[in-house]
Amino acid sequence: MTDLVVVGSGFFGLTVAEQMAGQGRKVLVIDRRDHIGGNAYSEADPATGIEVHRYGAHLFHTSNERVWEYVNRFTTFTSYVHRVYTTHRGEVFPMPINLGTINQFFRSAHGPDAARALVREQAAELDGRKPQNLDEQGVSLIGRPLYEAFIQGYTAKQWQTDPRELPASIIARLPVRYTYDNRYFNDTHEGLPTDGYTAWLERMADHPNIEVRLATDFFDPSQPVHKDAVVGQVPVVYTGPVDRYFDDAEGSLSWRTLDFEREVLPVGDFQGAPVMNYADTEVPYTRILEFRHFHPERDYPDDRTVIVREYSRFAERADEPYYPVNTSEDRERLTRYRDLMKGEQDVHFGGRLGTYQYLDMHMAIGSALSMVDNKLTP
Ligand code: FAD
Ligand code: NA
Repeated sequence: MTDLVVVGSGFFGLTVAEQMAGQGRKVLVIDRRDHIGGNAYSEADPATGIEVHRYGAHLFHTSNERVWEYVNRFTTFTSYVHRVYTTHRGEVFPMPINLGTINQFFRSAHGPDAARALVREQAAELDGRKPQNLDEQGVSLIGRPLYEAFIQGYTAKQWQTDPRELPASIIARLPVRYTYDNRYFNDTHEGLPTDGYTAWLERMADHPNIEVRLATDFFDPSQPVHKDAVVGQVPVVYTGPVDRYFDDAEGSLSWRTLDFEREVLPVGDFQGAPVMNYADTEVPYTRILEFRHFHPERDYPDDRTVIVREYSRFAERADEPYYPVNTSEDRERLTRYRDLMKGEQDVHFGGRLGTYQYLDMHMAIGSALSMVDNKLTP
């Protein structure tokens, strides 16, 4: 007998499954993919052995002590610290925008106060007028020169839309650091799983009370465990797309997706860093990932490397949904889907797709722990 069906084996679904199994429940996890782990899944590149994150670079970081304590039950973490660089007009700058970026860009030697005053003066261009689009929003936050160099082209590529046609609300803040610190994340804890994401995810699923069935779609009526056979019979935690659950009854929610172009190059080191952004629209991809740099401590080949070029675009029906677009129309639809969710007996919607919300891994894990506490534990 199954006590709980979990649809989706990403971090949300596996956290729920692991916790409920620990309380003695029999949990069945299904996933339509042929592997567990959702988007955090990684695999060894066959030609080099280098760990590649199949669905885009995944950096773990958190300031949530409960989550940190929880994840350390399944894996240790390396001392990896994430840093990002960007190429603009043939020159490399540190990101996010910091004192180093500013002084390199303006060929200056400003201290923090002088740099702050400069950015404030350049950001005053709109003279108090409310930004009408993303372009004006960017200018009002950091001034035109820095915005046009580092944000405008990159954002245009991310959205495949002219920033003058995008709503100002896409960028609420553009933090500028008035120090030379270019550490990407500010969290208390950061690192990469020592023996990889998949080993970590497999250890979460490795419990006698958990059964995982892969290549099993919740909406495929030919599978023994599908929506119409299960809902109302057994409690369900659903982490797939919320619109799909309701057959798009309120219209489909819009997502951006990414295309990844993977290549093995016959060099030991291609770019000297894990992530290089490309700020200019002349370069079609948004960034290049070089996966060997996520694990400098590992014994990888010194004559080959794996790079992945990343392209961004709006998702079609058959694409993987990655980032919610979140237009006002999407938000209205989501409100109506939330009403529909309330009518579903003993179906709990969670995770990135089930709530139409971008969630970092630590947030997905944290919200799964809360769901177990508040909704699933009698
Ligand atoms: P998912 O991992 O998406 O898992 C959902 C699962 O449900 C999938 O396996 C899917 O196959 C399955 N499913 C869907 N529909 C069905 C169905 N009908 N039947 C059966 N199964 C179904 N987080 C970070 O903390 N750091 C990062 O650097 C980071 N980078 C990211 C980069 C990208 C490109 C993306 C997209 C996400 C990134 N994230 C990052 C977020 C991270 O991937 C999520 O936090 C995590 O995936 C959330 O887990 P989840 O379980 O909610 O969803
Ligand atoms: Na990422």
